[in-house]
Amino acid sequence: MVLSGAGISAESGIKTFRDANGLWENHDIMQVATPEGWEENPDLVLSFYNKRRQQLKEVQPNAAHFALKELEEYFEVSIITQNVDDLHERAGSKSVIHLHGELLKVRSSVNENEVLYWPNDLNIGDFCSQGKQLRPHIVWFGEAVPMLELAIPKVTQADIIIIVGTSMQVYPAAGLVDYAAQKTPIYVINLNPHTQSKGNIFVYPEKASLALPKLVKELKKQA
Ligand code: APR
Repeated sequence: MVLSGAGISAESGIKTFRDANGLWENHDIMQVATPEGWEENPDLVLSFYNKRRQQLKEVQPNAAHFALKELEEYFEVSIITQNVDDLHERAGSKSVIHLHGELLKVRSSVNENEVLYWPNDLNIGDFCSQGKQLRPHIVWFGEAVPMLELAIPKVTQADIIIIVGTSMQVYPAAGLVDYAAQKTPIYVINLNPHTQSKGNIFVYPEKASLALPKLVKELKKQA
């Protein structure tokens, strides 16, 4: 099981969250990633995610994403990502759970189960089947995380856990590791790690694009 965060996509050119003083691509997170922000200024929120969607077309998966794809040749790999980009999928990973939603999808603002693939701009006046405004398919702060139910069994069943490029500050994602069996080896890859190597925890304080290919090479020997 791999838990990934913004740091794995940083080297593809997508900014992380907490390395930028609470700003997300120069925007106040509270304005663009909360239901209140959406209520207050839907134009701003739509334009923000339209830019993020455009940016996705300009970036590519990096060596870290590709290393995880390679791992599938030797292990059954489940990726649980907090990222809303599609770089794991574009690298070829087959099992990806997006805890915080997906940039390339939108959903009805009155029926969370009406989800549509939406690769281009979303505008005011783009409606769901019930004639209501569509919104980004993003889990905003204060909203439920429905994919958690799918993610928890992946953690409890994991023989090996890799945590890459996440500050582990946002719950419930950060709490997922608590579901791991006691002695499960946990590899943590982070430029600025939140923990130290001890017992079953092995920390790689390096860039994901360097550390993950190395780790995959090591794990292949155990397969
Ligand atoms: N390689 C490895 N780690 C890196 C790299 C890199 N090249 N660059 C940055 N990092 C690390 C940073 O040290 C930091 O710990 O990635 C982490 C990124 O942390 P955050 O910006 O907090 O991102 P993340 O943990 O994914 O945030 C979780 O917060 O705002 C919300 O919903 C949003 O999904 C997001 C959630």
